[in-house]
Amino acid sequence: REPLWYKDAIIYELHIKAFMDGDNDGIGDFEGLLSKLDYLEDLGVTCIWLLPFYPSPSKDDGYDISDYYNINPAYGDIKTFKRFLREAHKRNLKVLTELVINHTSDQHEWFQRARRAKPGSIYRDYYVWSDSQSKYKDTRIIFTDYEASNWTWDHEAQAYFWHRFFHHQPDLNYDNPRVQKEIFKIIDYWLDMGVDGFRLDAIPYLFEREGTNCENLPETHQYLKQLRAHVDSKYENVLLLAEANMWPEDSVAYFGQGDECQMNYQFPLMPRLFMAVNMEDRYPIIDIYDQTPSIPENCQWATFLRNHDELTLEMVTDEERDYMYKVYTKDPQARINLGIRKRLAPLLENNRQKIELMNMLLFSLPGTPVLYYGDEIGMGDNYYLGDRDGVRTPMQWDPGRNAGFSDANPQKLYLPLIMDPDYKCENINVENQQRNPNSLLWWMKRILKTRKQYKAFSRGDLNFLAPDNPKILAFIRSYEEEVILTIINLSRFSQPAQLDLSAYLDYIPLEVFSHNEFPKIEKQPYLFTMGPYGYHWF
Ligand code: BGC
Repeated sequence: REPLWYKDAIIYELHIKAFMDGDNDGIGDFEGLLSKLDYLEDLGVTCIWLLPFYPSPSKDDGYDISDYYNINPAYGDIKTFKRFLREAHKRNLKVLTELVINHTSDQHEWFQRARRAKPGSIYRDYYVWSDSQSKYKDTRIIFTDYEASNWTWDHEAQAYFWHRFFHHQPDLNYDNPRVQKEIFKIIDYWLDMGVDGFRLDAIPYLFEREGTNCENLPETHQYLKQLRAHVDSKYENVLLLAEANMWPEDSVAYFGQGDECQMNYQFPLMPRLFMAVNMEDRYPIIDIYDQTPSIPENCQWATFLRNHDELTLEMVTDEERDYMYKVYTKDPQARINLGIRKRLAPLLENNRQKIELMNMLLFSLPGTPVLYYGDEIGMGDNYYLGDRDGVRTPMQWDPGRNAGFSDANPQKLYLPLIMDPDYKCENINVENQQRNPNSLLWWMKRILKTRKQYKAFSRGDLNFLAPDNPKILAFIRSYEEEVILTIINLSRFSQPAQLDLSAYLDYIPLEVFSHNEFPKIEKQPYLFTMGPYGYHWF
């Protein structure tokens, strides 16, 4: 692995059960994924992020792990996983897996042993117990839609156990050195196999302390430094990607001084890509970069639009959230106390222009872009389904039965396809779009190709320009000799805004522009053309 490989990556998040069914039991698996590696290579992504594929009761879709050293038999076995890893690496596709270490499933042998062990014994203390619910009482509850407390009584143990997520996901006790060491063994097992890095699920919640803000504790960062040092002492350029869903000034702590996680999701950017396009205003984008501190040189944000937890209005201010809901639900009283399941999906109707504009922003702004499976063909949310299932339906490969995902009887599919009439399966599938050069899929392939062609996009700095029209988002990305000006006209519905290019003359030699028509500029380094609703680059 070359140093800083993750800065130039384009990550593709997929759920093994949703991608391709290789043994026709209605559930995706590694055999199926193996048959689609050429597709991923051709799409242009460079790294696959797999959602949890370990043995699990699957009450939280695999984030409730009952065995860290194996493969959920529904998806395959270790032998098949190793073959997948080999085949992915042959195609220069890196592989990230989930390190879900804040909690285990209550079916994990550690918990089964702990609840029967004597209070104070070493195995009992793999988890956090109390004889009352009053400890850590100020700590916020994350899944407010489902849990009324972070404590649940265990009859076998005759005590309460602590859980920041569902009550079937008891938190591990990181004050116990044995637990800390167990995690290093798990990491070594998968890194010895050749995995390229981990997404550190729910990493801010490892330690519990009195008081409200226990999501940026010194103990957590100390442990992350030890974990990173351990990994760097044995392996080359392994990526640690933090899931720290916070405002940038708080989440930057997970980079440490470049000695903790090299990457971290920039959650607050996600709704702003959506807001800028729907409000036709550059403010939401500029605002989040204004409040994002600089980060260590070897670090990078991971940016995304959709993911397995929904597109949410969690990381916006109350005023912004109210505005969005008033505008989009036409309900003057619309307010949401957002749980992870409240969705913007109804607002992100399957609209090609919106999807292109948001991806243009995603791929031209700083950060390593993360595509969620199906983004490339405009698969949206089947938001009639409960919990977060709406964004976890089978990938749609062709217009045939089960959208080509499986030959199983349609009733056996683990979830229904997106059969919402707006999606018309015959359009939203890979095969039909591969045949149509004007499809979103072809457009996405071009944008991925251009992204990879210029380091200014993956490593360059960012300077916003401020044309007087707030509907125009313009910025320069520069890196060494490359200078790329991106101008995005957010006024999709009204006439493309007349652009006074004089603001850019320092960057663009006059002869390539004329003020009246929308020029097609192909000369490097100016890489954009003017489309019906704005500059986009190919
Ligand atoms: C994941 C969720 C999961 C939760 C508990 C989050 O970080 O993204 O899907 O339910 O952790 O593991």
